[in-house]
Amino acid sequence: TGKLHTVAKAAGKTYFGSATDNPELTDSPYVAILSDNTMFGQITPGNSWKWDATEPSRGTFTFTAGDAILSLAQKNSQLLRGHNCVWYNQLPSWVTSGNFDAATLQSIITTHCSTIVGHYKGDTYSWDVVNEPFNDDGTWRTDVFYNTLNTSYVATALNAAKSADSATKLYINDYNIETAGAKSTAMQNLVKSLKSAGTPIDGVGVQGHLIVGEVSSMTSNLAAFTALGVEVAITELDIRMTLPATAALYAQQKTDYQTVISSCQAVAECIGVTIWDYTDKYSWVPATFSGQGGACPWDASLLKKPAFDGIVNGF
Ligand code: XIL
Repeated sequence: TGKLHTVAKAAGKTYFGSATDNPELTDSPYVAILSDNTMFGQITPGNSWKWDATEPSRGTFTFTAGDAILSLAQKNSQLLRGHNCVWYNQLPSWVTSGNFDAATLQSIITTHCSTIVGHYKGDTYSWDVVNEPFNDDGTWRTDVFYNTLNTSYVATALNAAKSADSATKLYINDYNIETAGAKSTAMQNLVKSLKSAGTPIDGVGVQGHLIVGEVSSMTSNLAAFTALGVEVAITELDIRMTLPATAALYAQQKTDYQTVISSCQAVAECIGVTIWDYTDKYSWVPATFSGQGGACPWDASLLKKPAFDGIVNGF
């Protein structure tokens, strides 16, 4: 049935990968599959590089958990995506409740981004420098960063990341930008304005948190991003269903995974695909979307589902 990274490479892509998280690394059967770099040529840390994990109090950085993910990827010769520098969620309260003025918050962003990207200098293929800046209607998310700095925080973060590691590819990452719509248009406008201002931007991350039966071709929308001179990646793919799972839902899920992969395959500058963990055992879906789950290509017993063949077929 093939190995996903090998199949992706043979199809001209840079990687096929998976997110993982520190608590899972004590699960030997799980780690054995994750560590097969013909299956997964790339790893994304699911939580341990986020702001609350890396700078829990101002100016105090902790990389113990983050470095465990780095060690795993290095041991297995897997690429790494940094995730993430600036996001409204999983922020320590000192950031959200600090009531900082614009100059101070700008300096806090610069310090955070340059320190974490600098810590992993040379270790990453790419970084989600800014995560989820937009609302679904294409307006800016009114988080602490936008409320204090307007849109300028995006360039501040990108410039800090660029200074810290000039070789890693700098991404903006969001969900519900898989197909055309107000949010995709907003992301395209942001890329255009960053490019015209000379701000470093290399890619758009399309998360891909999708729903079984509601997946359609992403090809033209991905091409609209790459036409602006950036690469794209599918960064957090999972396709959830309302439980209980049935054979019919699994069959539809296989089709839906294939649709996503073939959309990436159709766009040369769609450079890789990452699933948001490979097994339902560790999926974030059930805890986030009540009554839903079954979103990953491997089930909770670490057995492949029909979705696995959908991925292979898509490349
Ligand atoms: C999720 C993690 O998987 C969970 O463990 C955590 O509790 C919440 O965050 N978009 C993102 C990811 O960019 O960082 C999120 O990860 C899933 C949605």
